Amino acid sequence: MPRNVIIFDTTLRDGEQAPGNTMTPEEKLRLARQLDALGVDVMEAGFPAASDGDFRSVRDIAQEIRRPVIAALARCHDRDIELAGESIREAARGRLHIFISTSDLHLEHKLRMTQEDALELARRSIRQARTYTDDVEFSAEDASRTDLDYLCRMVEMAIAEGATTINLPDTVGYALPDEYAAMFRSVRERVPGSDKVIWSAHCHDDLGLAVANSLAAIEAGVGQVECTVNGIGERAGNAALEEIVMAAKVRPQLAQFTTAINTPEIFRTSQLLSYLTGSFPQPNKAIVGRNAFAHEAGIHQHGVMQHGLTYEIIRPESVGIPRSTLVLGKHSGRHALERRF
Ligand code: KIV
Ligand code: ZN
Repeated sequence: MPRNVIIFDTTLRDGEQAPGNTMTPEEKLRLARQLDALGVDVMEAGFPAASDGDFRSVRDIAQEIRRPVIAALARCHDRDIELAGESIREAARGRLHIFISTSDLHLEHKLRMTQEDALELARRSIRQARTYTDDVEFSAEDASRTDLDYLCRMVEMAIAEGATTINLPDTVGYALPDEYAAMFRSVRERVPGSDKVIWSAHCHDDLGLAVANSLAAIEAGVGQVECTVNGIGERAGNAALEEIVMAAKVRPQLAQFTTAINTPEIFRTSQLLSYLTGSFPQPNKAIVGRNAFAHEAGIHQHGVMQHGLTYEIIRPESVGIPRSTLVLGKHSGRHALERRF
């Protein structure tokens, strides 16, 4: 029986923080309404400590959008957690998402902290977060480059302190799919109480593997994936929501999971995001790119005219695209020309 995987959308946070994707609070609210129509389960609305605008934006979204869980991100700093807690105070269902780096590289060069100090700081922060809500997600930033024994100690502490979702991000897009899946299997096997929490994958696309890694993590048992519309996000981006969702739809026997995403809203959401940021996906982007359902070569055009499935694995209407297009160019043949006349 396929299980449902929670779609945690971070377009408004990880997506928006990448160059060229800035949105005003009004634009974010408009996108949040569309993400609600798309059916995301969790919407990470922003990082309230980043600016007054970010705080207001998360608060406005939490006040208006009532169905999905609204998450606010915070570092392990008292002030971050206070602001994030305040921003989701009026949410119907609010989540605090607390993170700290756990790899030696980040501890030494970014946080300048020992493993023990980071563990204690994270413990205090989770306790503080729990005073605002029972729904606390803990992320071990750079988990995929973290010493496994230390990662297990950190996660064990987070579960004992009451975190309900544990996210192990591939922050810099470094992991390969089997390796990422193996990390989840090992941590889940070793850490007491691992069956009481939801495990989450969060993948970046520096090696073009964000979606493959997310699917591998799902196969290894995670119950939540963090992703963005059009795959926008830091550097090469995050795992693309539409690609994960459609992999499950197109290959249900192999993928063995479902999502609650209303797929005919995918294209509208992608277009709204591009319109608001002024940044469109590359033409050959899977599912939502301009060429994803366009055919110019005569052989392909003839095939698609006889039966769409010859060269298309997805019906365009199923993702909200009215129809495929037959582009007339130097590679086109008589059949497409005839149809055009
Ligand atoms: O990539 C990352 O590790 C993050 C965390 C803040 C979850 O975005
Ligand atoms: Zn990220």
